[in-house]
Amino acid sequence: MVAASTTLGSFESPISAFIQGASRGIGLEFVRQLVSDPAIGSIVASCRSPDGADDLRVLAHDSGKRLTLVPMDVTIESTVERAAARLTESGQALDLIVNCAGVLHDNDSGMRPERRLADIDPEQMIRSYRVNAVGPTLVAKHFHGLLSSRKKTVFASLSARVGSIGDNRLGGWYAYRAAKAAQNMITRNLSIELRRRRPDVICVALHPGTVDTDLSRPFQRNVPSRQLFPLDRAVRQLLSAIDSLTPQDNGGFRAFDGESIEW
Ligand SMILES: NC(=O)c1ccc[n+]([C@@H]2O[C@H](COP(=O)([O-])OP(=O)(O)OC[C@H]3O[C@@H](n4cnc5c(N)ncnc54)[C@H](OP(=O)(O)O)[C@@H]3O)[C@@H](O)[C@H]2O)c1
Repeated sequence: MVAASTTLGSFESPISAFIQGASRGIGLEFVRQLVSDPAIGSIVASCRSPDGADDLRVLAHDSGKRLTLVPMDVTIESTVERAAARLTESGQALDLIVNCAGVLHDNDSGMRPERRLADIDPEQMIRSYRVNAVGPTLVAKHFHGLLSSRKKTVFASLSARVGSIGDNRLGGWYAYRAAKAAQNMITRNLSIELRRRRPDVICVALHPGTVDTDLSRPFQRNVPSRQLFPLDRAVRQLLSAIDSLTPQDNGGFRAFDGESIEW
């Protein structure tokens, strides 16, 4: 039976979820909201350094063993493989996988979105591709066998509207745009391959809107306040969009409000 206050009423409960990239931002807020949802039986959350992810550790401590943390750096395949093996050993099957890890800028390495060709740094382009595009692909490679065969199963990856080729009218942000466009193509590919194994799986790319996180912070100045979502609202919207997905949505690119975005 599904608890009345669940945000994911279209799933069979108890729901088992995996949130990838959960140390901060949208991923952390996914975990926070899911852990307080009575329909969620178990959550596995991954991040690069669980020992240093204080907010996650507090949530895990208070979760009554419903939340488990696993280390994973999506640019290091062995860590993805190890995390999947751990879940397999524990007999865990997953109803919902959400890939959240992403990178747009990074002060430590000087990574920033390019305004013009002169700003292109090939190493940073490759890094963006490895985190934003290759990361969710490795998760699919090692985790697809863990997807449950229940009524509703979702494999979602957080993408970005700026990854839409058809919607690109401003230019710039070469690495991030291209990496998210690649991620979108990979999501579409996965939606086809995963379906061959599990006819009801729903595989989608989701645009969260502009959300008040570290990722968007340097670029918020020109965003009207009504279009800058606080984290709690952004994740409520994303969970609602996930809850509304049907098998017909497999292979789609959708915004937080369910609107379809052109590729
Ligand atoms: N915020 C927005 O306005 C917005 C808009 C459109 C799309 N998105 C997308 O939404 C997703 C979440 O963004 P956010 O705003 O929550 O970003 P954020 O606050 O900057 O958090 C990024 C997350 O990605 C993780 N990460 C980075 N590199 C990683 C790696 N190699 N392996 C594993 N994890 C890694 C970070 O972990 P560490 O703590 O270890 O660095 C952190 O948990 C991203 O895919 C982003 O592209 C965001």
